[in-house]
Amino acid sequence: MSERSLVLVKPDGVSRGLVGEVISRVERKGLTLAALELRNVERSVAEQHYAEHAGKPFYESLLEFITGGPLVAMVVEGENAIAAFRQLAGATNPVQAATGSIRGDYAVEVQYNIVHGSDSPESAKREIDLWFPGV
Ligand code: TYD
Ligand code: MG
Repeated sequence: MSERSLVLVKPDGVSRGLVGEVISRVERKGLTLAALELRNVERSVAEQHYAEHAGKPFYESLLEFITGGPLVAMVVEGENAIAAFRQLAGATNPVQAATGSIRGDYAVEVQYNIVHGSDSPESAKREIDLWFPGV
């Protein structure tokens, strides 16, 4: 079933010049772009985006990181887009992510894991409404 997923190239991915690499992998997988923008994220948006993690030990550091520089937000569309992008991204912790995945190939620390992808249809709807209202 055609789905949409909210994908972020986080500030580490932008500063390391990996935006094109991530987009290229999305396109080569067979997914398409429905929206794309370079953003500086307000703290309030970051808090809503990561609301499920409020209170966890890494939460404050995560918010500082995600608001600390420009990121690229996009809506990715296609059959099974949510699971398909999570597969491209690899496991949350880059040292557990498979080689060949974005995190497995380009990252070594869990906080600096390059990309975000929605984890369910409910999260995708919530996140797309937050980042791209009306898209
Ligand atoms: P999570 O939603 O568990 O992972 P994913 O991005 O794969 O959906 O966590 C959100 C982000 O929080 C994760 O991408 C990196 C950061 N994070 C940490 O910094 N430390 C941690 O221990 C965890 C679990 C996540
Ligand atoms: Mg998550």
